[in-house]
Amino acid sequence: MAPRKIIIDTDPGQDDAVAILLALASPDEIDVLGITAVAGNVPLELTAKNARIVCELAGHTDVPVHAGCDRPLSRPLITAEHVHGKTGLDGPVLPAPQMALTEGHAVDFIIDTLRAHDPGTVTLCPLGPLTNIASAFLKAPDIVDRVQEIVLMGGAYFEVGNITPAAEFNIYVDPEAAETVFKSGVPIVVMPLDVTHKALVTKPRNDAFRALGSKVGIAVAEMTDFFERFDKNKYGSSGAPLHDPCVTAYLIRPELFSGRHVNVEIETGSELTLGMTVADWWGVTDRPLNALFIGDVDADGFFDLLTERLARL
Ligand code: BDR
Ligand code: CA
Repeated sequence: MAPRKIIIDTDPGQDDAVAILLALASPDEIDVLGITAVAGNVPLELTAKNARIVCELAGHTDVPVHAGCDRPLSRPLITAEHVHGKTGLDGPVLPAPQMALTEGHAVDFIIDTLRAHDPGTVTLCPLGPLTNIASAFLKAPDIVDRVQEIVLMGGAYFEVGNITPAAEFNIYVDPEAAETVFKSGVPIVVMPLDVTHKALVTKPRNDAFRALGSKVGIAVAEMTDFFERFDKNKYGSSGAPLHDPCVTAYLIRPELFSGRHVNVEIETGSELTLGMTVADWWGVTDRPLNALFIGDVDADGFFDLLTERLARL
């Protein structure tokens, strides 16, 4: 089968970085048409820089990287340096990127790419707040029907929230954008905290990255070392969840994941529960099914895949 064409929309972020590396290491399954940066974990200037650092680490300077929206649709930006560090990619010491940003706004790249390809042949993979994707849908409604699928990291049902008691970070930062995307009618696969909290980087799994002995393996081990200190303290778990790579792993081996087709609505009104993903997991409403909401992962299979692919870079 031909590799699946994707655009990675991202706010790197150590876990975003690992998701990108996994995609770039898997050309038989995934064709990365471009990377679009969005403000999220850290401001846009840094996410756009970090995306290029990651491409260079992977040896893929050929991938176009576009800078996108520097703030949510209608709210001030909230960032997560307390998790990801000042640069967003704290941990390894990596050189400043040599490759330039590709000209043109990320939103226009998304629009132009969808128009240039046959309908139903390009998948969007958002790993951060949904601002770029929603902006593209609002600016060019004709592209909505051309999207093959959206596979995104965001939201939670059983795990409820990580940035507030009720909301997950990516959705909370731009709930209006999330609402636009979830109401778009595009088939959506959601990797919520419910599944990412089962993909924990335990010490043996991190040791396996480091044992690759390569620049990539060591950098990933150092990234997850850094990223972990926050979540281990918070949750008292044996390792931190590796959120965003669940998206790219799903594209390669969907059978590692399981979930339910449900209705998901986004809370945009309440101050208390802003950004909550209200997933009808138990089917208690007759609201339309708009998402495959993933709940489980074969974690060993996931980390085996990741380690095996990172070894290729
Ligand atoms: C999500 O928020 C970010 O901090 C991570 O990169 C991930 O995309 C997890 O809530
Ligand atoms: Ca992210």
